[in-house]
Amino acid sequence: MISVVILGAGNVATHLFKAFYKAENIVVNQWFNRTLKSIDFYKNMVDVTDSLSSLKPADIYIIAVSDDAIMKLSEQLPFENKLVVHTSGSVGLYDLDKKNHRGVFYPLQTFSKDATIGFENVPICIETANKNDFKTLKLLAESINSKSYRVNSEQRSALHLAAVFVNNFTNQLYRIGHEITESTSTEFDILKPLILETANKIQNLSPFMAQTGPAKRNDKKTIKKHLKKLEGSPHKAIYEMLTNSIQKTHGRKKL
Ligand SMILES: NC(=O)c1ccc[n+]([C@@H]2O[C@H](COP(=O)([O-])OP(=O)(O)OC[C@H]3O[C@@H](n4cnc5c(N)ncnc54)[C@H](OP(=O)(O)O)[C@@H]3O)[C@@H](O)[C@H]2O)c1
Repeated sequence: MISVVILGAGNVATHLFKAFYKAENIVVNQWFNRTLKSIDFYKNMVDVTDSLSSLKPADIYIIAVSDDAIMKLSEQLPFENKLVVHTSGSVGLYDLDKKNHRGVFYPLQTFSKDATIGFENVPICIETANKNDFKTLKLLAESINSKSYRVNSEQRSALHLAAVFVNNFTNQLYRIGHEITESTSTEFDILKPLILETANKIQNLSPFMAQTGPAKRNDKKTIKKHLKKLEGSPHKAIYEMLTNSIQKTHGRKKL
Protein backbone atom coordinates (compact mmCIF):
# COMPACT_ATOMS: atom_id res chain seq x y z
CA MET A 1 0.00 0.00 0.00
CA ILE A 2 1.29 3.48 -0.92
CA SER A 3 0.12 6.35 1.26
CA VAL A 4 -0.09 9.87 -0.14
CA VAL A 5 -0.96 13.37 0.99
CA ILE A 6 -2.15 15.75 -1.73
CA LEU A 7 -1.43 19.47 -1.44
CA GLY A 8 -3.51 21.77 -3.64
CA ALA A 9 -7.06 21.47 -4.89
CA GLY A 10 -7.00 22.63 -8.49
CA ASN A 11 -7.43 20.72 -11.74
CA VAL A 12 -4.54 18.28 -11.32
CA ALA A 13 -4.98 17.69 -7.58
CA THR A 14 -8.67 16.90 -8.02
CA HIS A 15 -8.09 14.41 -10.86
CA LEU A 16 -5.23 12.79 -8.91
CA PHE A 17 -7.42 12.49 -5.80
CA LYS A 18 -10.18 10.76 -7.77
CA ALA A 19 -7.73 8.33 -9.40
CA PHE A 20 -5.89 7.57 -6.13
CA TYR A 21 -9.19 7.11 -4.29
CA LYS A 22 -10.25 4.44 -6.80
CA ALA A 23 -6.88 2.64 -6.85
CA GLU A 24 -6.63 -0.54 -4.80
CA ASN A 25 -3.12 -0.06 -3.45
CA ILE A 26 -3.14 3.69 -2.77
CA VAL A 27 -4.49 5.35 0.32
CA VAL A 28 -4.93 9.13 0.48
CA ASN A 29 -4.11 9.93 4.10
CA GLN A 30 -4.99 13.60 3.78
CA TRP A 31 -5.82 16.40 1.37
CA PHE A 32 -4.47 19.88 2.12
CA ASN A 33 -5.45 23.18 0.53
CA ARG A 34 -4.80 26.71 1.76
CA THR A 35 -8.56 27.29 1.55
CA LEU A 36 -10.86 24.50 2.73
CA LYS A 37 -13.74 25.58 0.52
CA SER A 38 -12.59 23.68 -2.57
CA ILE A 39 -12.04 20.36 -0.75
CA ASP A 40 -14.83 20.54 1.80
CA PHE A 41 -17.06 18.55 -0.57
CA TYR A 42 -14.71 15.54 -0.16
CA LYS A 43 -14.54 15.54 3.65
CA ASN A 44 -16.56 12.32 3.94
CA MET A 45 -14.06 10.54 1.70
CA VAL A 46 -10.77 11.86 3.03
CA ASP A 47 -9.33 13.86 5.90
CA VAL A 48 -9.13 17.49 4.69
CA THR A 49 -7.06 20.27 6.22
CA ASP A 50 -5.87 23.82 5.64
CA SER A 51 -3.18 23.56 8.31
CA LEU A 52 0.35 22.56 7.33
CA SER A 53 1.25 21.91 10.97
CA SER A 54 -1.33 19.12 11.16
CA LEU A 55 -0.15 17.21 8.07
CA LYS A 56 -0.26 13.44 8.55
CA PRO A 57 2.58 10.98 7.82
CA ALA A 58 2.62 9.49 4.29
CA ASP A 59 5.02 7.83 1.84
CA ILE A 60 4.60 10.60 -0.76
CA TYR A 61 3.56 14.26 -0.53
CA ILE A 62 2.29 15.57 -3.86
CA ILE A 63 2.39 19.33 -4.31
CA ALA A 64 -0.08 20.19 -7.10
CA VAL A 65 -0.33 23.96 -6.69
CA SER A 66 0.40 26.84 -9.10
CA ASP A 67 3.98 26.78 -10.37
CA ASP A 68 4.93 29.99 -8.57
CA ALA A 69 3.76 28.65 -5.20
CA ILE A 70 5.59 25.29 -5.25
CA MET A 71 8.94 26.42 -3.88
CA LYS A 72 7.52 28.30 -0.90
CA LEU A 73 5.05 25.54 -0.01
CA SER A 74 7.86 22.97 -0.04
CA GLU A 75 9.87 25.19 2.32
CA GLN A 76 6.90 25.46 4.69
CA LEU A 77 6.48 21.70 5.11
CA PRO A 78 7.08 20.90 8.78
CA PHE A 79 9.01 17.60 8.26
CA GLU A 80 12.23 16.23 6.74
CA ASN A 81 13.48 13.19 4.79
CA LYS A 82 10.13 12.39 3.21
CA LEU A 83 9.46 12.07 -0.52
CA VAL A 84 7.99 15.37 -1.75
CA VAL A 85 7.10 15.79 -5.43
CA HIS A 86 5.52 18.46 -7.59
CA THR A 87 3.46 17.98 -10.75
CA SER A 88 4.79 20.78 -12.93
CA GLY A 89 6.34 20.54 -16.37
CA SER A 90 8.43 23.64 -15.93
CA VAL A 91 9.47 23.98 -12.26
CA GLY A 92 12.92 22.57 -11.45
CA LEU A 93 13.44 19.45 -9.34
CA TYR A 94 15.82 21.44 -7.17
CA ASP A 95 13.28 24.21 -6.59
CA LEU A 96 11.83 21.86 -3.97
CA ASP A 97 13.32 22.34 -0.51
CA LYS A 98 16.33 20.09 0.05
CA LYS A 99 15.28 19.01 3.57
CA ASN A 100 13.13 16.32 1.85
CA HIS A 101 13.70 13.78 -0.95
CA ARG A 102 12.75 15.59 -4.13
CA GLY A 103 10.85 14.36 -7.16
CA VAL A 104 8.65 15.35 -10.07
CA PHE A 105 5.45 13.50 -11.03
CA TYR A 106 4.44 15.43 -14.15
CA PRO A 107 1.23 14.21 -15.80
CA LEU A 108 1.53 15.18 -19.45
CA GLN A 109 -2.12 15.89 -20.20
CA THR A 110 -4.54 18.78 -20.13
CA PHE A 111 -6.71 18.73 -17.01
CA SER A 112 -9.84 20.74 -16.35
CA LYS A 113 -11.88 19.98 -13.23
CA ASP A 114 -15.06 19.37 -15.21
CA ALA A 115 -13.58 17.21 -17.99
CA THR A 116 -13.31 13.49 -17.22
CA ILE A 117 -10.01 11.81 -18.04
CA GLY A 118 -8.81 8.25 -17.60
CA PHE A 119 -5.26 8.03 -16.28
CA GLU A 120 -4.54 5.25 -18.78
CA ASN A 121 -4.34 8.21 -21.20
CA VAL A 122 -1.98 10.20 -19.03
CA PRO A 123 1.76 9.60 -19.46
CA ILE A 124 3.56 10.46 -16.24
CA CYS A 125 7.04 11.95 -16.56
CA ILE A 126 9.07 11.11 -13.49
CA GLU A 127 12.23 12.78 -12.31
CA THR A 128 13.97 11.97 -9.04
CA ALA A 129 17.35 12.48 -7.49
CA ASN A 130 17.64 8.83 -6.43
CA LYS A 131 16.68 5.40 -7.82
CA ASN A 132 14.48 4.21 -4.95
CA ASP A 133 12.30 7.29 -5.16
CA PHE A 134 11.93 6.65 -8.90
CA LYS A 135 10.71 3.10 -8.15
CA THR A 136 8.16 4.43 -5.66
CA LEU A 137 6.79 6.98 -8.14
CA LYS A 138 6.74 4.43 -10.96
CA LEU A 139 4.64 2.15 -8.76
CA LEU A 140 2.34 5.07 -7.95
CA ALA A 141 1.86 5.74 -11.69
CA GLU A 142 1.26 2.02 -12.40
CA SER A 143 -1.33 1.91 -9.63
CA ILE A 144 -3.51 4.40 -11.51
CA ASN A 145 -2.87 2.59 -14.84
CA SER A 146 -0.59 5.33 -16.19
CA LYS A 147 2.47 4.68 -18.29
CA SER A 148 5.51 6.36 -16.76
CA TYR A 149 8.67 7.73 -18.35
CA ARG A 150 11.96 8.53 -16.64
CA VAL A 151 13.02 11.98 -17.88
CA ASN A 152 15.74 14.43 -16.90
CA SER A 153 15.14 18.15 -16.33
CA GLU A 154 16.12 19.09 -19.88
CA GLN A 155 13.78 16.50 -21.40
CA ARG A 156 10.88 17.51 -19.11
CA SER A 157 11.36 21.14 -20.03
CA ALA A 158 11.41 20.24 -23.77
CA LEU A 159 8.23 18.17 -23.35
CA HIS A 160 6.53 21.05 -21.58
CA LEU A 161 7.51 23.50 -24.33
CA ALA A 162 6.30 21.07 -27.02
CA ALA A 163 3.06 20.58 -25.05
CA VAL A 164 2.41 24.33 -25.16
CA PHE A 165 2.67 24.18 -28.97
CA VAL A 166 0.57 21.04 -29.51
CA ASN A 167 -2.08 21.80 -26.90
CA ASN A 168 -2.35 25.46 -25.82
CA PHE A 169 -1.51 26.98 -29.20
CA THR A 170 -3.61 24.47 -31.12
CA ASN A 171 -6.53 25.20 -28.80
CA GLN A 172 -6.11 28.93 -29.40
CA LEU A 173 -6.27 28.20 -33.14
CA TYR A 174 -9.56 26.34 -32.53
CA ARG A 175 -10.81 29.47 -30.79
CA ILE A 176 -9.86 31.62 -33.78
CA GLY A 177 -11.59 29.12 -36.08
CA HIS A 178 -14.66 29.36 -33.83
CA GLU A 179 -14.62 33.15 -34.08
CA ILE A 180 -14.30 33.00 -37.88
CA THR A 181 -17.22 30.59 -38.32
CA GLU A 182 -19.40 32.53 -35.84
CA SER A 183 -18.82 35.73 -37.80
CA THR A 184 -20.87 34.24 -40.65
CA SER A 185 -23.26 32.22 -38.42
CA THR A 186 -21.69 28.99 -39.65
CA GLU A 187 -21.71 26.00 -37.27
CA PHE A 188 -18.29 25.33 -35.70
CA ASP A 189 -19.44 21.70 -35.31
CA ILE A 190 -18.91 21.20 -39.06
CA LEU A 191 -15.15 21.49 -38.38
CA LYS A 192 -15.07 18.89 -35.60
CA PRO A 193 -14.44 15.79 -37.80
CA LEU A 194 -11.50 17.67 -39.36
CA ILE A 195 -10.12 18.49 -35.91
CA LEU A 196 -10.38 14.83 -34.88
CA GLU A 197 -8.84 13.54 -38.12
CA THR A 198 -5.90 15.96 -37.76
CA ALA A 199 -5.13 14.47 -34.36
CA ASN A 200 -5.80 10.89 -35.50
CA LYS A 201 -3.66 11.13 -38.61
CA ILE A 202 -0.45 11.87 -36.72
CA GLN A 203 -0.85 8.65 -34.72
CA ASN A 204 0.46 6.88 -37.83
CA LEU A 205 2.05 9.60 -39.97
CA SER A 206 4.74 12.08 -38.94
CA PRO A 207 3.46 15.68 -38.59
CA PHE A 208 5.70 16.52 -41.56
CA MET A 209 4.01 13.92 -43.79
CA ALA A 210 0.52 14.78 -42.52
CA GLN A 211 0.60 18.45 -43.56
CA THR A 212 -1.74 19.62 -46.34
CA GLY A 213 -3.26 22.98 -47.36
CA PRO A 214 -2.51 26.13 -49.35
CA ALA A 215 0.78 26.95 -47.58
CA LYS A 216 2.27 23.51 -48.24
CA ARG A 217 0.97 23.45 -51.82
CA ASN A 218 2.09 27.06 -52.31
CA ASP A 219 -1.33 28.08 -53.66
CA LYS A 220 -0.54 31.78 -53.81
CA LYS A 221 -3.97 32.97 -54.98
CA THR A 222 -5.77 31.20 -52.15
CA ILE A 223 -3.31 32.55 -49.60
CA LYS A 224 -3.85 36.08 -50.94
CA LYS A 225 -7.65 35.66 -50.66
CA HIS A 226 -7.35 34.55 -47.05
CA LEU A 227 -5.05 37.46 -46.21
CA LYS A 228 -7.51 39.88 -47.79
CA LYS A 229 -10.34 38.48 -45.66
CA LEU A 230 -8.17 38.93 -42.56
CA GLU A 231 -7.28 42.55 -43.38
CA GLY A 232 -7.50 44.61 -40.17
CA SER A 233 -7.81 41.49 -37.98
CA PRO A 234 -5.20 40.53 -35.35
CA HIS A 235 -5.39 36.99 -36.80
CA LYS A 236 -3.69 38.12 -40.01
CA ALA A 237 -0.24 38.16 -38.38
CA ILE A 238 -0.81 34.63 -37.05
CA TYR A 239 -1.88 33.42 -40.51
CA GLU A 240 1.23 34.96 -42.09
CA MET A 241 3.57 33.61 -39.42
CA LEU A 242 2.22 30.05 -39.61
CA THR A 243 2.09 30.11 -43.43
CA ASN A 244 5.75 31.16 -43.49
CA SER A 245 6.62 28.45 -40.97
CA ILE A 246 4.89 25.74 -43.07
CA GLN A 247 6.52 27.01 -46.29
CA LYS A 248 9.96 27.01 -44.69
CA THR A 249 9.44 23.46 -43.40
CA HIS A 250 8.32 22.26 -46.85
CA GLY A 251 11.00 24.09 -48.83
CA ARG A 252 8.76 26.82 -50.24
CA LYS A 253 9.69 30.49 -50.56
CA LYS A 254 8.52 33.00 -47.92
CA LEU A 255 5.28 34.92 -48.57
N1 LIG B 1 -3.93 21.87 -15.59
C1 LIG B 1 -3.14 21.14 -16.33
O1 LIG B 1 -3.55 20.77 -17.43
C2 LIG B 1 -1.77 20.70 -15.85
C3 LIG B 1 -1.15 19.62 -16.52
C4 LIG B 1 0.08 19.14 -16.06
C5 LIG B 1 0.68 19.74 -14.95
N2 LIG B 1 0.07 20.81 -14.32
C6 LIG B 1 0.76 21.38 -13.15
O2 LIG B 1 0.03 21.03 -11.97
C7 LIG B 1 0.12 22.10 -11.00
C8 LIG B 1 -1.29 22.55 -10.63
O3 LIG B 1 -1.94 23.03 -11.80
P1 LIG B 1 -3.55 23.17 -11.84
O4 LIG B 1 -3.92 23.44 -13.26
O5 LIG B 1 -4.16 22.03 -11.11
O6 LIG B 1 -3.72 24.52 -11.00
P2 LIG B 1 -5.06 25.26 -10.59
O7 LIG B 1 -6.26 24.50 -11.03
O8 LIG B 1 -4.90 26.68 -10.99
O9 LIG B 1 -4.99 25.19 -8.98
C9 LIG B 1 -4.00 25.86 -8.29
C10 LIG B 1 -3.93 25.37 -6.86
O10 LIG B 1 -2.79 26.00 -6.27
C11 LIG B 1 -3.20 26.60 -5.05
N3 LIG B 1 -2.37 27.77 -4.81
C12 LIG B 1 -2.19 28.84 -5.63
N4 LIG B 1 -1.34 29.72 -5.09
C13 LIG B 1 -0.99 29.19 -3.88
C14 LIG B 1 -0.14 29.64 -2.83
N5 LIG B 1 0.51 30.81 -2.93
N6 LIG B 1 0.01 28.84 -1.75
C15 LIG B 1 -0.66 27.66 -1.67
N7 LIG B 1 -1.47 27.18 -2.62
C16 LIG B 1 -1.63 27.94 -3.71
C17 LIG B 1 -4.67 26.96 -5.26
O11 LIG B 1 -5.28 27.13 -4.00
P3 LIG B 1 -6.75 27.83 -3.87
O12 LIG B 1 -7.74 26.75 -4.23
O13 LIG B 1 -6.80 28.22 -2.43
O14 LIG B 1 -6.76 29.01 -4.80
C18 LIG B 1 -5.15 25.72 -6.02
O15 LIG B 1 -5.42 24.66 -5.11
C19 LIG B 1 0.97 23.20 -11.65
O16 LIG B 1 2.30 23.02 -11.25
C20 LIG B 1 0.85 22.92 -13.16
O17 LIG B 1 1.98 23.34 -13.88
C21 LIG B 1 -1.14 21.30 -14.74
